[in-house]
Amino acid sequence: MSKTLKAVRGMPDILPDTLMAIQKIEHCIRTLTQSYGYSEIRLPLLEMTELFKRSVGEETDIVGKEMYSFLDRNDESLTLRPEGTAGCMRAGIEHGLFHNRVQKLWYLGPMFRYERPQKGRYRQFHQWGVEVVGLPGYAIEAEVIQLGRRLWEMLGLDEYIQLQINSLGSNEDRARYREKLQAHFHRAKDQLSESELERLDRNPLRLLDSKNPALKALIDEAPVLHDDLSESSKAHFDALCQLLTDLGINYTHNPHLVRGLDYYQDTVFEWVTDKLGAQNAVAAGGRYDGLVEQLGGAENSAVGFAMGIERLAAMMPEETSNEADIMVYCLDEGLIDKVYPWLESLRQMIGDQLRLVVDHQMGSRKRQLKRVERSQAASIIMIDQEKWQMDQITVKMDGTINDIAKDQLSSWLQQALLQGA
Ligand code: HAM
Repeated sequence: MSKTLKAVRGMPDILPDTLMAIQKIEHCIRTLTQSYGYSEIRLPLLEMTELFKRSVGEETDIVGKEMYSFLDRNDESLTLRPEGTAGCMRAGIEHGLFHNRVQKLWYLGPMFRYERPQKGRYRQFHQWGVEVVGLPGYAIEAEVIQLGRRLWEMLGLDEYIQLQINSLGSNEDRARYREKLQAHFHRAKDQLSESELERLDRNPLRLLDSKNPALKALIDEAPVLHDDLSESSKAHFDALCQLLTDLGINYTHNPHLVRGLDYYQDTVFEWVTDKLGAQNAVAAGGRYDGLVEQLGGAENSAVGFAMGIERLAAMMPEETSNEADIMVYCLDEGLIDKVYPWLESLRQMIGDQLRLVVDHQMGSRKRQLKRVERSQAASIIMIDQEKWQMDQITVKMDGTINDIAKDQLSSWLQQALLQGA
């Protein structure tokens, strides 16, 4: 026997049972984005590697260690997208979508990061992303945060997901803070590992979200960026906090929340849960006003967030799949040839709303009756030779068995199954 092949590590198949939760999430996403006036955009999975270097940032883990990049046949370096914001801004600039108008966009699809796979962390995962371009105020930040909250509510998960927010201030605020932070960590240089020392040099803010327990005390004592914010950044943040309070959205101000992508400024936020173990971020985002210009567009404001579909799906209660509303069993062998054309006309009469599934396993009458016993379908049609000849069909529903005239069956089923639906 030849060797069986397996899926690539960290790139899981999504099987029908898990898809039930995912489809429910996707359905809510479509309803929600439509009701807030957001438009869907579909973007390629492959982009020029340069795009992510210039947006997510060369010093970040994503660009430094996690990208799936390769040279194509034309020796061009391409990368499987590790996130959606960069591609969305690239597309908006390329097609003039941001010219003198506000754009509210959303996307849903696979992203790729070469991370160490574990529960909740994959190398291929799916994000729902929302990006708004053209609005500098704090109110739109509250709106995108509210989109997240509405989704948790729709799915009954709101009590498990909490909001953390912070302000990273302007570029100047951060440059000042960076120096202070470097001086702080420098004093304890000998406690830092080689990679942490490198981080201290290149991107010291990222030391603040280090999970290394040896650094905890140092992080707790670190200067706080909030103290260094300019008046306008402070006022923006305070106004957002007030609006969130007015909307009844609970939040925690986490002064150490810095995010792992370089394009943010001012507001950043994360929706976290303690239901998923180490991978506790369900969604995250913030303001990234400089990015459109950095990618060659005109100066513009932008804010957005992305949510991990697999992480949210893992929080949903398990549902058992009920694959049929009506299950059909032909109890006598050889009958199916006669019954099949009639079943097709029945299918058309009852319409697509009801799932009518034929049991094709056949076999002896005894076996078929065993399967009837085990069936979870709302109603069961049993066809046997004798009744068929008398134009009668047996239907089992809620434990009761009825014989129904063949030509009455479609209206009988519709009434019984769609009543009040
Ligand atoms: P991010 O924080 O890198 O932000 O990812 C957003 C969400 O994607 C995370 O909170 C998590 O739920 C999910 N996620 C990330 N990596 C993985 C993984 N390896 N496996 C499973 N789920 C994962 C961004 O990607 C930004 N583009 C968000 C954004 C949009 N900011 C502004 N607009």
